[in-house]
Amino acid sequence: MQTALLHCCGSLIGDAARVVARTIDAPAFMEQPLPIRVSHISSPPPFLKWAGGKRWLSDRIVELANSIAGKYIEPFLGGGAVFFALKPGEALLSDVNPELINAYRAIRSDPNKLYSLLRIHQARHSKEYYYSIRTYRPRCEYRKAARFIYLNRTCWNGLYRVNLSGQFNVPIGTKSAVLMPTDDWSALSALLNSVQLICGDFEDSIAQAKEGDLVFADPPYTVKHNLNGFIKYNDSLFSWCDQIRLRDALVSAKCRGARVIVTNANHESIRDLYRRHFRLESVVRESVLAGSPAHRGRYEELLIS
Ligand SMILES: C[S@@+](CC[C@H](N)C(=O)[O-])C[C@H]1O[C@@H](n2cnc3c(N)ncnc32)[C@H](O)[C@@H]1O
Repeated sequence: MQTALLHCCGSLIGDAARVVARTIDAPAFMEQPLPIRVSHISSPPPFLKWAGGKRWLSDRIVELANSIAGKYIEPFLGGGAVFFALKPGEALLSDVNPELINAYRAIRSDPNKLYSLLRIHQARHSKEYYYSIRTYRPRCEYRKAARFIYLNRTCWNGLYRVNLSGQFNVPIGTKSAVLMPTDDWSALSALLNSVQLICGDFEDSIAQAKEGDLVFADPPYTVKHNLNGFIKYNDSLFSWCDQIRLRDALVSAKCRGARVIVTNANHESIRDLYRRHFRLESVVRESVLAGSPAHRGRYEELLIS
């Protein structure tokens, strides 16, 4: 099995880094920028800032996906960066987070209604207002969706975290823009029009994958640690058992003739989990924040296909 090392470097323009790819052994003059895809220019950008979002890697994933004969299935939707870059004709998008799926559904059903509710949040935004909305529990699906998007855009780092009672508990962040110049709620609605949106566990949506379909799975990252001979699992809502369950579901989908692309932590335990059935690539994101080399970030992840 050949393991290629791919570097994805870019200056951060929002989250959309320009991606340059090269194998680790290639001479520098062979470095070629990946073609900029028209889909990035013409499709609406993700409307959520989401932890672990794959906007920075979406060109590479679009390239790997090539053309999709059947349905596109994304069981860990989050901000949907890859879905928005791919714009597949037929798609099943799912996530275990009911508020997230409700927001996608609300945009699809009535983008204008959602926009008018967001305008109200924008006009009233302040520290006091943020905390009052954080404790507010609307019953109407549109108000729930507008609250979710408002909190996502104004909370600390776009983080989504709930306490044991399921209440959102992220503090206010530094950003105050509820509406952005790049928002195009009607285009989002049109794109989601023919999409199946499901709230549930990844296994249910992956079980639907058949010959010709493409599954893109971007789960929460969990790794298995081996400390002093003891196997320790890191505490996470997505356990090591879930990682095994995911691998098994993906192997079954592959056996049924579906194509599979997965991202995960580039950790020995994850490589061991996948290497028998899939091809592994290391992908590295290097970014210089605010043009300062002192704030250089380097993130290495695994691309499995
Ligand atoms: C890393 S994020 C996905 C980010 C996404 N690819 C993007 O570009 O924004 C992982 C997502 O998995 C979801 N998730 C966690 N456990 C899940 C489960 N058992 N089944 C389905 N989704 C799950 C979380 O709610 C979260 O939205």
